[in-house]
Amino acid sequence: MRRPFIAGNWKMNTTVEEAAALVSSMIGDLNNETAVDIVLCPPFISFYRISETIEGTSVRLGAQNMYFKEKGAYTGEISPLMLKPLCQYVILGHSERRQIFGETDGMVNEKIKAALAAGLTPIFCIGETLEENDGGRTGTVITRQIREGLKDVPSNKEIVVAYEPIWAIGTGRAAAGGQAGKTIGLIRSEIAGMLGKEKAEATRILYGGSVTAANIAEFISEPQIDGALVGGASLKAADFTGIVKQVASIKAAP
Ligand code: 13P
Repeated sequence: MRRPFIAGNWKMNTTVEEAAALVSSMIGDLNNETAVDIVLCPPFISFYRISETIEGTSVRLGAQNMYFKEKGAYTGEISPLMLKPLCQYVILGHSERRQIFGETDGMVNEKIKAALAAGLTPIFCIGETLEENDGGRTGTVITRQIREGLKDVPSNKEIVVAYEPIWAIGTGRAAAGGQAGKTIGLIRSEIAGMLGKEKAEATRILYGGSVTAANIAEFISEPQIDGALVGGASLKAADFTGIVKQVASIKAAP
């Protein structure tokens, strides 16, 4: 059985004060949901403040990005070694990093390997554009992203995968649960081909893209979908805790 996993990707939102207030407003509710792994991914600048608030709870921190080098002349970047004492997870290969900042499959692969070597768990994001989806190329794109992203990655370390169709991100147009479940099934079999069936069965694969408290049940009811990577709705305490609570009750049901 894969433990359900919900991560909130805050993207470039919240000042330190706003971040601290948001976490304080939901930490009690989140800490009650022991059947779900919960990860908050705020901007780096709020890490210290938030780590004080979540200390002693079951909620974990994740970064939204990192560079793959350990240190050096890389202005503006953060390294795996810097993250390791502060958080357990790191989102890598998000479509906004790929599209706006030009990250390639090769760079994402370097980052995944560096994160694993440093003892961080990557949340590896993949997903197709609207054009690729309309053209029936979802399978081809996903397969390429997995094969290149997970190239030479060890099979004995944990990786969380997030399937985020780009057309569903921030658009209010979520994928249909069944369709997302089917694509995630394909992702799992691709992982099995690369890292072995046992690893694929143990790997948690999330859906992301316009997830809300109103539609999470549709996704989490799919046997292939182990949780969600939530953007906009993770910035609202009632919505995010509502999502986590539904995941706990649906996945806990026999
Ligand atoms: P939204 O939930 O705002 O669509 O964002 C999804 C996302 O990109 C999470 O990483």
